[in-house]
Amino acid sequence: MFVSYNIKIKICLVGDSSVGKTSLVRRYVLDIYDDKYISTLGTKVSKKQMIIKKMNKNFKLTLSIWDVLGQKDFKNIHDMSFKCAKGALLVCDLTRKETFKNISIWESRVKKVAGEIPIVILTNKSDLTDEYAITEANIQLYSAQFNIPFFMTSAKYGDNVIKSFYKIGDLVIKKIIEESDKR
Ligand code: GTP
Repeated sequence: MFVSYNIKIKICLVGDSSVGKTSLVRRYVLDIYDDKYISTLGTKVSKKQMIIKKMNKNFKLTLSIWDVLGQKDFKNIHDMSFKCAKGALLVCDLTRKETFKNISIWESRVKKVAGEIPIVILTNKSDLTDEYAITEANIQLYSAQFNIPFFMTSAKYGDNVIKSFYKIGDLVIKKIIEESDKR
């Protein structure tokens, strides 16, 4: 028999400006996409539920998804937004190399506030194949070196978007189970 648990967690989407954080959230939560770019001011919070089944247990996760503005000089807003996050999606843009280089900076900023939380990398705009500035081999290397899973996503067409959110939910639940087993 399945035992059910209701869990509320906060996750953050972080990364440079214009990498597609807002578009990924809109695709995941509302299944819509818009080519217009409106810079996120501060932080936008959305909610969505998912079910994760593990070891005869049903985890009903309510995700509170924090879409954090990408401009780097707003450290106070970033720090406030990262507080109590249980997981983070680090987003970069496949057509801009520097956004991939900055992933490690965003990771350390998040972890400084939220601690050793699960992380997943999303290399977004995978539909723009003719404009790639980062190779998949490079991303694979980075992912293997630091043991961080990654997904090539397209907010525009939806590729790997659901999988990415499911993965971060799954890793967060795994960590919660491991920590409760230790007690
Ligand atoms: P900030 O609010 O500045 O932090 O930006 P953001 O990371 O939230 O980026 P946003 O979602 O606003 O997207 C920036 C631009 O990239 C917009 O014009 C989007 O339409 C476009 N975009 C986002 N995702 C994709 C994608 O998967 N493919 C393509 N081709 N364009 C995308």
